[in-house]
Amino acid sequence: MRNLNELLQNPSLLSLNREPDRAFYIPYADTQEALKGKSDSPYRLMLNGTWKFRYFSRAIDVEEAALLPNYPFTEEIPVPSNWQMHGYDIPHYTNIDYPYPVDPPYVPNDNPVGVYSRTFTLDTTWNGKEIYLRCEGVAPCMLLYINGQEAGYTQGAHLPSEFNITPFLQQGENTVSILVAKWCDGSYLEDQDFYRLSGIFRDIYLLAREKNHIRDYFIHTQLSADYCDATVTLEWETVGEGDVEVALLDPSGKQLDSGLNRTSFQVPQVEKWTAETPNLYYILLKMGGEVICEPFGIRSVQISPKGELLINGVSVLIKGVNRHDSHPSKGYVTSYEDMEYDLLQMKRLNINTVRTSHYPNAPEFYHLCDRLGMYVVDETDIEIHGFASRLGGKPGYQPYHKDWVCEMPEWREAFVERARRMVERDKNRPCVIFWSLGNESDYGSNHDAMSHWIRRRDPSRLIHFESANLVDNPDTVDMCSYMYPSIEQSKELCKQAGNKPVFLCEYVHAMGNGPGSVEEYMELFRTYDNLIGGCVWEWADHVIEKDGKYYYGGDFGEIPHDGNFCVDGMVFPDRSFKAGSLNIKQNYRNLFAEYLGGGEVKISSDYRFRTANETVTAVLDCDGSQTQILSQQLNLKPGESTILELPLDDITCREGAYLNISFVLTENTPWENSGYETAFEQFTLQEKPQVLSTEESGALQVTEDKEFITLAGANFTYRFNKLYGAFESMIYNDKEWLAERAAFSVWRAPTDNDRRIKLTWGSYYDNFRDNEGLNLSFMHCYNTKLTENTDTKVVLTAECNISARAKAPIVKFAVTYTVTPDGTVLHEVRANVREDAPFLPRFGAEYVLIEGNDALSYYGMGPCENYVDLCSHARMGWFESNTADEHIPYIRPQENGNHTKVKRFSVKDEQGRTFTVKAAEQLECAATHFKALDLETTAHEFELTPRKETILRIDYKVSGIGSNSCGPELDKKYQFDEKDFTYTFQIKPE
Ligand code: GAL
Ligand code: MG
Repeated sequence: MRNLNELLQNPSLLSLNREPDRAFYIPYADTQEALKGKSDSPYRLMLNGTWKFRYFSRAIDVEEAALLPNYPFTEEIPVPSNWQMHGYDIPHYTNIDYPYPVDPPYVPNDNPVGVYSRTFTLDTTWNGKEIYLRCEGVAPCMLLYINGQEAGYTQGAHLPSEFNITPFLQQGENTVSILVAKWCDGSYLEDQDFYRLSGIFRDIYLLAREKNHIRDYFIHTQLSADYCDATVTLEWETVGEGDVEVALLDPSGKQLDSGLNRTSFQVPQVEKWTAETPNLYYILLKMGGEVICEPFGIRSVQISPKGELLINGVSVLIKGVNRHDSHPSKGYVTSYEDMEYDLLQMKRLNINTVRTSHYPNAPEFYHLCDRLGMYVVDETDIEIHGFASRLGGKPGYQPYHKDWVCEMPEWREAFVERARRMVERDKNRPCVIFWSLGNESDYGSNHDAMSHWIRRRDPSRLIHFESANLVDNPDTVDMCSYMYPSIEQSKELCKQAGNKPVFLCEYVHAMGNGPGSVEEYMELFRTYDNLIGGCVWEWADHVIEKDGKYYYGGDFGEIPHDGNFCVDGMVFPDRSFKAGSLNIKQNYRNLFAEYLGGGEVKISSDYRFRTANETVTAVLDCDGSQTQILSQQLNLKPGESTILELPLDDITCREGAYLNISFVLTENTPWENSGYETAFEQFTLQEKPQVLSTEESGALQVTEDKEFITLAGANFTYRFNKLYGAFESMIYNDKEWLAERAAFSVWRAPTDNDRRIKLTWGSYYDNFRDNEGLNLSFMHCYNTKLTENTDTKVVLTAECNISARAKAPIVKFAVTYTVTPDGTVLHEVRANVREDAPFLPRFGAEYVLIEGNDALSYYGMGPCENYVDLCSHARMGWFESNTADEHIPYIRPQENGNHTKVKRFSVKDEQGRTFTVKAAEQLECAATHFKALDLETTAHEFELTPRKETILRIDYKVSGIGSNSCGPELDKKYQFDEKDFTYTFQIKPE
């Protein structure tokens, strides 16, 4: 056997016997099957399935016999898979840091290896054909043996490899054996922020080709100057000689034209491809007994003189997301259905672009994008981020530095071939609008070489590479790409870019609860011509699922690791939506409504290509009772608007009246059924203040001792603790409501996006130095006074603060409690925050109610959790809920479940008894079975135990969410940073 050390540590040895790159396609035996494309071809034999497997923890231990036929394997593994998901080795999550020393091209002496083996029998109809073995993805490399003979080698995890194995085959049964090492020199180029997993993780199959066959082709399309007609030009390459029958079919499948060896077609009145109108034409190529069907789209990608992105001459905004191939229990393995489901969910969220961060996805993914309509930034499999932290002092990026592989000549081909293998594979996909040279790879002359190669091969698309901003975005890139600039920085970058497009390839970091503050970015995208949009980081949480539990970095004992930094998706691991997803959906919407007054509502379409034919409905919500006042199908051309006249006179409400405009699909689409709401808009018509009771007739008895003031009315007895300035018992109609003494507080369980500010807030148990210790803060009462005692009310005033050990009080406040004979307790709070204090997590009262108060009804923003900067998806209304359902199962527990603009919030027990909060103006409220410390001190959702009590949070304000886990600091306007404030609310059991 070959010396593995030499093979795996040589950056100039990238492959052995690998075929030249080509477009991805499957040859069929007849036209109908080729057109369907999904069924299997008689020329393809899938090798997916159960393979024999043996894991060696060091390459040196590999027995050569394991690569030969008839080795006595005792274990099996499914293919495709990652072996770490099947009990071998451990899943290792690390972000920037390499999991081994940075000393290219050397890899650890202890380099684990998996040997895979299976047999196959060739169909006799394959006799005389050329047989290729193709693997769409193996991490990070494989050495191929056929019948005990070495047949090839490849590296580059997310790129295809193909080998002609004909000379190694025999009649009857054959054995294929594959050695996969965990690390090779190529691993240095695969330092993406993700789980490091190994194995054959994409399809592996055989293709039987005739001696003479089409090897590769490139379909070029050129739209006329008015974008109406097109010329389609074909370029192909064959193995051997032969004629190619060519036919062109229109999107309905009708043949438009054909010809022998025909390389050019005219298409008048093109049905152009865009993400909104995914029209596909087809080219049929027949040579010998093979038919290849290539669906393709006709579209152009250009930059306008102002720096806009033009698709077919029309300016388009990228409303995108970054997507990794990740699956909670399968790792890198994503089936056709998984990919399709991701795309359907994206379409449902109005997303129009995917950046394949940070490697080419499985080839079928692009076909799905073509068919469903999704622009793609196709990024090749390169990231070398860890060089930035290879020296103790974290040097950061060092453009053109000789120590970086992107500058080393012996690594040049390794870089260029990764661009080439991507471009050659995906060049016929209309969805691909940009090629990306990779991610976070510094900048070196190897990048120049990649760009030059791509420019020569495919000038029809734009080149993106974010790291090019380190060297001022030279001509090797077509746009200035950035990550996570703040709103202000983004404006500056747009100005600096002049007439070059600016692309935020990553913006708003969707880790945990969030991201917030998306709206401001969308506003910016719409304002600056050369700001072509951005992609949210990132699509789905990466976790490892075991026995229904979700784990993250460090849970398998791996070193180094980055904890839950991989759990940063805008959807949960199962792709279900959360507030962050719905907020993005609303911000990415294509239909808008504006209330002009006098019953007039202007509806405008921001679709760029399709006619909006959604059904618009207008519903009047008056005190929770809803009346539909209009339902009409739209017929709006791109950019058009229309005015609806609505009967909105004579509205009288007790609490509030809102106009809800909703846009729903009229027809079934390939991605969702009719009736699905794609966007909405709400207008407040009237809002009345809640009626608070300040005086009531009746009588109150007051008794006072050293510690307590007891207040008794006809139906209730409340006990107030003078020492602590708060109620500790509230018995109403014989029911005790309070499980413990009420208190005011400022703490919230830090969200992932509070990752930085929490260092200032203080979330330690052992460090009280440079932080406020807020996690352990508590309420202190200076004094309580009985200030008024009449028949109609009793007034208590408590002067208090919130402070932490070793710190000066952070908030001083006085609460005036007015108790009326009906049992209402009005709270009037006046607070002062310490001048030099950081902005606070929140401020408010916490009433902990006894077990059994689970049903909720509220009038405020809902139905989903919302925060001041994460509420585009929420609307005012009268909602019913349940305390248990209010909890959002973020993988690492954190603050959740808030509602803004609450006017009334009510908890109910099984007997129908209620505890109701009313706001003088508006509150932020939450009902939960968890205290902040429960969430803060628990590492995983599955380790949480809900309390039986219902904790009712009645807040003046809660700070916004932002996306500072990686994105910019929380926007000032969403920081709760008021130094003096007052707020008023009442509570009342019933
Ligand atoms: C970016 C990087 C991503 C991911 C993200 C943080 O800098 O490109 O791969 O690491 O930060 O989640
Ligand atoms: Mg990185």
